[in-house]
This record gives sequence, C-alpha cells and structure tokens, in this order.
Amino acid sequence: MPKTVFGRDYPFLPRQEILTYEEIVRLARLFAAQGVAKIRLTGGEPLLRQDIEHLIEQLAAISGIELTLTTNGSLLAQRAQGLRDAGLQRVTVSLDALDDAVFKRMNDAEYPVAKVLAGIEAAAACGLTPVKINMVVKRGANDNQILPLARHFRGSGHILRFIEYMDAGNANGWRMDEVMPSAEVIKLIDAEHPLAAADPNYTGEVAERWRYRDGSGEIGVISSVTQAFCSTCTRIRLSTDGQLYTCLFANTGHDLRQLLRTGASDEALTAAIARLWQTRDARYSELRSADTVAPRKIEMSYIGG
Ligand SMILES: C[S@@+](CC[C@H](N)C(=O)[O-])C[C@H]1O[C@@H](n2cnc3c(N)ncnc32)[C@H](O)[C@@H]1O
Repeated sequence: MPKTVFGRDYPFLPRQEILTYEEIVRLARLFAAQGVAKIRLTGGEPLLRQDIEHLIEQLAAISGIELTLTTNGSLLAQRAQGLRDAGLQRVTVSLDALDDAVFKRMNDAEYPVAKVLAGIEAAAACGLTPVKINMVVKRGANDNQILPLARHFRGSGHILRFIEYMDAGNANGWRMDEVMPSAEVIKLIDAEHPLAAADPNYTGEVAERWRYRDGSGEIGVISSVTQAFCSTCTRIRLSTDGQLYTCLFANTGHDLRQLLRTGASDEALTAAIARLWQTRDARYSELRSADTVAPRKIEMSYIGG
C-alpha cells in the first residue's frame, strides 16, 4: 500500500462497511461445508486488525480447516505465541531482502529486517511451522538478495519461496523486464548449493518445490508469470468488505455482504457461492501470456497475495 496513495488522509472504509468477525466466521463455515480445506488470513496486514486472535479462535474451531496467515512480520515477534494459542497453525512471512537498504527500497517499510527475522524465529519457536518466507524477486531491485536470503535460511527448517514479480493491481508500474523467471533463480542457487526437484505435496500446489541435495532443507518457486497455473487454481478470495473474487487479477468482486445483511439464509448463501464457483472462467495469468491487454484490476492490498 504505497504511502503516496494510502497516506494519513486516505479515507479508509468506515467500520460498518467491513465484515464483522461473526460474518466472516459464518461465511467460513459455509465455505468449509462446501469443501474448502484451507483458510489463509492475509491483507493488507492482518496483524493490524484489532483482536485478530478472536477471529483465529473461531476459525480454528471449524473442523477440517487448515488455518494459516501471511504477514509482513513487523509485529510477529510479540504476537506469535498469542496467534499460536488462538489456534493458528502456520505463518508465511514476506521478506524481500536481508539488506536494510534494499528492503526499504522494495516496500518503503519503517521497520528493519532484524524485526522480521525476530518474528520468524518467534513463530518457529512457538510451533507455527514450517515457517514459509516469501521473497518477491524484482529484477534490478532485489535480485542481488536471492543468494544472501538462500544462505541465511538454508538449514534453518524454514521454507524460502521466490515469487515472480506480478502485475497485480495497477499501482506498481509493473514491467515484464522486471520479472526474473524462476528458472533463473533456481540456476543461480543451484550453482552454489546443488538442488534437486522435489514432488509436489498435493495437486495444484502453487509453489514448485526444490530440495538442497546435501539435505539442508527445501526452497520453492512460484512462477505465476512464466508458468501460469490458472488451470489448477482452487483459490477464492474474500475481501474485508465482503466481496468475493475468483481471481487474484479480477477487476470486480461479487457482493456477499449485501446477501449477509439482507437476511439471506445459509442455503441461499451456499447456492450463491456455488454458482460463482461453478461458473468462474477467470484465467488472467494464462491470458497475460498471450499478450491480452488487461482491464483495470483490483489492488493486491484488498485481497492479499
Ligand atoms: C499482498 S501481501 C499481504 C499480506 C501481508 N501484508 C504481507 O506483507 O505479507 C501477500 C503476499 O503478496 C506478495 N506480493 C505483493 N506484491 C506482489 C507482486 N507484485 N508480485 C508478487 N507477489 C507480490 C507479498 O510479498 C506477500 O508475500
């Protein structure tokens, strides 16, 4: 969320426009009943939401759900144990550089890398494991941090993942020549620490897994630009104001808040969700590869990564 846009004077949504925890949990139960097996809290920054531990407690009580959270890590050191106690199972932490200057250039953050590293260690210490660490690789901006991050996390038990820089939203001024293909990342690391391809954990896994041949752990690459995975994508995203998005690159959502607040029954909500899911045809990343011009897209800060 660039400060130039989302500064102190930005008119953020009034509280009544965002879903209450009760509304989120009601929807989560309905999704779980339809076969959703994993819920990820993302954002924006989820640890800025007041008392998110209360939401986690209620979501964790839904049977059959794996519950995870993606965070920038800035508040994780002091919150990790509380998140774990509330029933969170794992965390993914975004970290685009080990070097403070590069880190600040990438995301204009007000906190040092050391704070994120402390958050990662605190999360691991209280069992939010395996901790996954997401590095978005932007050529010419932080590609010199690939090896330092790989060296840092090799042997730690944490799983470092390299994400191709995506044209999410419209605000980041994305250019194709800033995308460093995952194949190049793998080649670079393999030259220093030999790698072998590992089998996916499950069909449709977004990250392609690689393990260090010397047994010192694994890394992942997420190649949504050079190897679009729309055909196996099973994700659906709910925004904080109750819009449902069937694609990370969607330009419009589907309004569940309206249904929730006009007395729709569980059956009616379930039917609406099922209809959206069954008729979805979004496959933006595949079309992008075919040079289709994209319409205006939702910013990633509304619907997470
Ligand atoms: C949008 S963030 C939201 C959650 C949380 N605030 C955080 O920083 O992790 C979710 C993930 O999307 C990744 N991301 C953001 N912009 C991206 C882009 N243009 N291409 C690829 N990944 C991106 C982030 O690095 C992060 O791992």
